[in-house]
Amino acid sequence: MIVSLIVAMENNNGIGKDNDLLWHLPTDMRFFKQTTTGHCIVTGRKNYESIPPKFRPLKDRTNIVVTRNGNYSEPNIKVAGSIERALEIAKELGETEVFIIGGGQIYKEALEKGLVQKMYITHVDTNLEADTFFPKFDRNLWKTKDSISLPKDDKNPYQAKIVIYEE
Ligand SMILES: NC(=O)c1ccc[n+]([C@@H]2O[C@H](COP(=O)([O-])OP(=O)(O)OC[C@H]3O[C@@H](n4cnc5c(N)ncnc54)[C@H](OP(=O)(O)O)[C@@H]3O)[C@@H](O)[C@H]2O)c1
Repeated sequence: MIVSLIVAMENNNGIGKDNDLLWHLPTDMRFFKQTTTGHCIVTGRKNYESIPPKFRPLKDRTNIVVTRNGNYSEPNIKVAGSIERALEIAKELGETEVFIIGGGQIYKEALEKGLVQKMYITHVDTNLEADTFFPKFDRNLWKTKDSISLPKDDKNPYQAKIVIYEE
């Protein structure tokens, strides 16, 4: 099973503010949906609760929520007490590629523990105030596998580039 993460960050690695995203970028959202549909996704409890109730659990995906709260329960999700346990659940389900979808704490812990083999990073070309960040990572340790430019347009206020990195 490949362990991937997927994230969108601005020029200073900002990913969120006030438990929300920094932008509305429909083309990137579409990429996220296409890439993760049919797979298990692993999310921190805070990121999960930042998804509007009518859109969660994210549909057509097995939502695995990581929390230290042993009593946590919401309909139609799986709950894990650690990232490692969440990955085990995905493996037990026969997953081939699991996606860690954030937020900041979960990305940081997953990278520090060396759990991630592939990263789908949307680099959003803007500078915005954030309170949650993607960790700095050593680009020399990652090979660029592919990249896709997302132009700015009427509905997408910033230019962006999706880069797929592999270990
Ligand atoms: N731009 C993007 O691509 C993107 C993607 C995802 C999220 N975000 C943003 O990121 C922000 C949320 O990130 P965050 O860092 O505040 O929170 P988070 O990583 O989503 O969730 C943190 C929570 O996860 C649980 N947790 C963390 N480490 C754990 C461990 N080792 N074992 C068990 N449980 C653990 C804890 O839940 P309990 O407190 O319940 O124990 C903790 O409070 C929001 O602003 C969101 O919009 C942005």
